[in-house]
Amino acid sequence: MITRLLDPVKDRTAYTEAATLLRAGEVVGMPTETVYGLAANALDGKAVAKIFAAKGRPQDNPLIVHIADQKQMYDLARTVPESVEKLASRFWPGPLTMILPKADCIPDEVSAGLDTVGIRLPSHPVAQELIREAGVPLAAPSANTSGRPSTTTSSHVMEDLGGKIPAILEGGPCTVGVESTVVSLAGDKPRLLRPGGISLEQLREVLGEVEVDRALREKIGDDVRVSAPGMKYRHYAPKAPVTVVCGDPERTAAYITRHAGLDAGIICFSECAFQFEMHERRVIGSSDDVQTQARRIFDALRAFDDTNVREIWAQCPDDKGLGLAVANRLKKAAGFHVINVV
Ligand code: TXA
Ligand code: MG
Repeated sequence: MITRLLDPVKDRTAYTEAATLLRAGEVVGMPTETVYGLAANALDGKAVAKIFAAKGRPQDNPLIVHIADQKQMYDLARTVPESVEKLASRFWPGPLTMILPKADCIPDEVSAGLDTVGIRLPSHPVAQELIREAGVPLAAPSANTSGRPSTTTSSHVMEDLGGKIPAILEGGPCTVGVESTVVSLAGDKPRLLRPGGISLEQLREVLGEVEVDRALREKIGDDVRVSAPGMKYRHYAPKAPVTVVCGDPERTAAYITRHAGLDAGIICFSECAFQFEMHERRVIGSSDDVQTQARRIFDALRAFDDTNVREIWAQCPDDKGLGLAVANRLKKAAGFHVINVV
């Protein structure tokens, strides 16, 4: 199969072509503000099955459903608690996914057998236009081969899924760079299942108490039932093994200089980059600019696969704000192989 890159900036028919494919039960690469998604008609189980096939995604991992209008949420969820409306009016459109009891129209392929569904209204104008033009909600996981880092440019998507899907819609580089925050509102208390573009602090401003799922902090064994099934798989992983070093940037840089071999790749903050001139390195931004770190983290994790590095060392931001999401992606890429320098 030849994968076409459809660019709506050059040609407005890009939307019509992508929407026609989606209505015909095909999958399409779609830009969002967080990462690129691989979209299909969320109400068509057969179309959704093609997403799993193209990504090589485990069948028990549910998908997020994307909408272009807040009202669509009432068709997809069985109940919508008041807290959801508060969150929606504060953070939608944007990088927040809410888990709610699912309505009957959601096929099992989307919910992977759970009785809940994740819903998100993305802010990327190209995503919104595509959802409107398709006229149906779109199920979309991140548009990467399962297990690899997520994709934040159309060329990343082409790298992973070229030849396997009919089209990718161009939307430029993603402005947030890490995936949406996933919060469950289907249980007794709000629970953070995945940190992302909306911070835990922001959620707490609206909800008060928010529990944090333990899958965020530690490696979960295959035999354990987790709330977000995606959290238990090896994820975001480059080919070379990753070690994450947490602590004060000056100290973590010193630690890495002492321990990294010459064939190591380094993910570092800009103010520490000069210490790694001898290494293959990726600079993710200054230690106090977590927004830039978020935008660059997946590209950095992907970049080493085209090099000869045999191990990767990464400086890690602390858990404040968006730092929680960046640190989580790094730790997952490392299989939770983390060193705390004090
Ligand atoms: O930013 C994003 O969320 C991107 C863009 C494309 O919207 N999508 C994305 O999807 O990251 P994915 O499939 O790569 O990650 C979704 C995560 C997985 O960990 C999955 O297990 C969890 O959300 N999830 C989805 N539906 C769920 C549900 N009903 N209950 C619990 N967890 C759910
Ligand atoms: Mg993903």
